[in-house]
Amino acid sequence: MRKPIIAGNWKMYKTHAESVAFVKELAPRLAAYTGVESVVCPTFVALAGVCEALKGSGIGVGAQNLHWEAQGAFTSQIAPPMLQGLAEYVIIGHSECRAYLGETDEMINKKVKAALAYGLKPIIAVGESLTQNEAGQTAAVIGGQVRAALDGVDAANMTNIVLAYEPIWAIGTGKNASSAIAQDVIGGTIRKTLTELYGNSVAQGVRIQYGGSVKPDNMQDYMSQPDIDGALVGGASLKVDDFAKLIEAAAKAKGV
Ligand code: PGA
Repeated sequence: MRKPIIAGNWKMYKTHAESVAFVKELAPRLAAYTGVESVVCPTFVALAGVCEALKGSGIGVGAQNLHWEAQGAFTSQIAPPMLQGLAEYVIIGHSECRAYLGETDEMINKKVKAALAYGLKPIIAVGESLTQNEAGQTAAVIGGQVRAALDGVDAANMTNIVLAYEPIWAIGTGKNASSAIAQDVIGGTIRKTLTELYGNSVAQGVRIQYGGSVKPDNMQDYMSQPDIDGALVGGASLKVDDFAKLIEAAAKAKGV
């Protein structure tokens, strides 16, 4: 069985001090839910403090991006070895990075391979725009993004990869995709693409999240879908009470 994984993407919110205080309050609230993997993804500057505060808690830590080179003259960038020991996961290909930082499928593929080479587990985000969605291009766009991100990644690495379906029109808008639509894309397109690339048994083992306006009150609905293994959550992961409710709802829906 795929262990459910809920990751809080804090984006450019919370200072170092706020992040550390948050996880200290969160950890006891999640202690009972060992059947769900909980991950927080703070800003780079809070990673060390959050990591320290979460030692022994069972809650994982993720970074929000990385560069593909191991080092070099890349002002402002963070290299994979710099994240070793500070992050287990790293979000790659978030639509905000694709849109505002100009990240292309090719760059995302290089980042995925670099993360894996340094023992970091990528959470690869894919998603279509509203225009693409309305033009009926969702399956083609998502299938293409998945294939591009995984180009050259071998089957043995797929247990270290999480995928996240995040329709761009649903992120931070309050307009979430229905759980049926999310299931359809995740099961019908993403897992199907993984099956074509790696065969059924590998595809069945890969965890796939939904993301986009996930809240405590719609969480159980998503998690009741057979192919949805978790969520990548922005806004609702910024409050301790909401975060705890997301994990509680996931545990309930999956019976873990
Ligand atoms: P949201 O963000 O939950 O605020 O819609 C999700 C994301 O961008 O990962």
